Amino acid sequence: MKLDQKGQKEECGTSKLIFDRAVKVLPGGVSRNTIYRKPYPYYASSAKGSYIRDISGVNRVDFANNMASLIHGHSHPAIISGVSEQLQKGTAFTMGTEAEVAYAELLINRAPSFEKIRFMNSGSEAVMTMIKASRAYTGKPKIAKAEGAYHGTYDYAEISQTSSPKNWGDINQPNAVPVVQGTPKGILDDVVIYPFNDVERTLNILDQNADQIACVVIDPVPHRIGLFPATDSFIEAIYNWTRKNSALMVFDEVVSFRVNYSGAQQNYDHKPDLTAMAKIIGGGFPIGALAGKSEIMQVMDPRQTFLRHPQSGTFSANPVSSIAGRIAMEMFDEQAVLNLNALTMTARKQIEESIKIADVPISITGEGSMFRLHLLEKAPLYYREAYESKQVKDVLKELIDYLFIKENIIMVNTCSCMFATTLTQKEVDRLSEALLNGFKLIRPKLEQFNH
Ligand SMILES: Cc1ncc(COP(=O)(O)O)c(C=O)c1O
Repeated sequence: MKLDQKGQKEECGTSKLIFDRAVKVLPGGVSRNTIYRKPYPYYASSAKGSYIRDISGVNRVDFANNMASLIHGHSHPAIISGVSEQLQKGTAFTMGTEAEVAYAELLINRAPSFEKIRFMNSGSEAVMTMIKASRAYTGKPKIAKAEGAYHGTYDYAEISQTSSPKNWGDINQPNAVPVVQGTPKGILDDVVIYPFNDVERTLNILDQNADQIACVVIDPVPHRIGLFPATDSFIEAIYNWTRKNSALMVFDEVVSFRVNYSGAQQNYDHKPDLTAMAKIIGGGFPIGALAGKSEIMQVMDPRQTFLRHPQSGTFSANPVSSIAGRIAMEMFDEQAVLNLNALTMTARKQIEESIKIADVPISITGEGSMFRLHLLEKAPLYYREAYESKQVKDVLKELIDYLFIKENIIMVNTCSCMFATTLTQKEVDRLSEALLNGFKLIRPKLEQFNH
C-alpha cells in the first residue's frame, strides 16, 4: 500500500512547512532521532489525557506516552497545579529545596532495595552514574551488559545495543560492537557482552572476566531486546555470581519501574545493589535517579574525606521535576499500578483475538503496563531470536504508519505500547480494532517470513 504521500500532505501541510524550517537549523530537522519519520515528522500542538492534537488539528490516541515516560498521560491537572505553583517561586537555585527531600523520602519508601537516592536529569545520566558508582565502589574497570539492551547514550552503556548478524559474532562470546563511529577501543575492551536470559553462556563469559567486572547491568524487562522479562533463574544466577566475585548486580529500571509498585525488581527474590530510574518518576519533566545501598551510594557523599565519585548536575533535583514526579508517583499507588496492569492485560487479550481473526503469525511479549508485537508466530525469548531484519522492520513500519495516518493511533516505533492511567476500555477497543485492520493489511507480506 502507498502510505499516502497525498493524504499526508493534505493532513499535515503545516508540519511539512515547519520541517522545511527545521532542517535548516537542526541536523535532520530533529533533536531526537526517535521522532523522525519519512518524509517528515508531524508536529504536536497540544495534548490532554491520552490524546495528542497535531498542528493540523488531527487528534490521535497516544499509546507511546513520550516513550513510556507519562504514566498519567498529558497535562494532568494535579501535576499542572503543583508545577504552576512552583514556577512562581523559582525553578532552579544554587541551593537544595525541600521538594527534593520530600520526593526522595517518597521514593525510598517504595522499594526495599532503596536506602539512599540521588537525582539527576535523564535516564542516560542515571545509568552513567550507576556504572561510575559501581567502579568507584569496587575499584574494578569493566562492566557487563546484555547484547541488544538500550541503556541510554553513555559510551560504555550503549555498546552492542544495535548488534546485528553482520557483527555480533559467536553467541558464546558476543562481540562488543560500537554504536557510534569513533568509539575508542579502550571502551570496547572494558564492556563484556552477555546474552540476556542465557544463564550458562552468561556465567561462562562473566567467569572469563571475573576479577575485573565492577557490575553486571540488567534491565529486567529490556524493551529493545524484545520486551520480555528476565527469568528468575537468570536473576538468581547473576546475583550469586556477583556475590561470589565481589561485583554488583545493578538494574536499569528507567522503563521497567512502572511494572510494579516497587518496579520490576518486585518480581524477583534477589534485589539489585543499585537501581537507575527516570521517565515516569519525572511526572512529565526531565529527571533521572540512582537508588540503592547506603554503603555504595556513600561514594558520592561529599562529607567523605576520600570522595570517590564527586557527582553533580546543574539542574539535578530541580524543584519543578521533583514536585511533578512526587505528585505523579503519589497518584501511581499500589491500586493504580494494579488497575493499569489489568487494563493492559485486557488489551493484550483483545489483540491476541485480533491476531487470531486476522490469522497472522504475530506474537506479543511484555510485562505490567507495556507490550510489544513481534512478527513471529512464537514469542521470542532471546535477543537474537527477536532481532528484526530490514524486511521485518519495513513491514512493521508500514503497520505503524497505517495506525498513525489512517487510524490516528500512536504506538512506539518498535510496535510497542506503553500504557498510561488515562487510557480506558474505549481506547483499548479502538486499538484492537485498528490493529485487526492493520494485520489484515500486512498479512500478504508476512508469508515471506514464516517459510
Ligand atoms: C532502559 C533505558 N535506559 C536508559 C534510557 C535513557 O533514558 P533517557 O532517554 O532519559 O536518557 C532509556 C531511554 O529510552 C531506556 O529505555
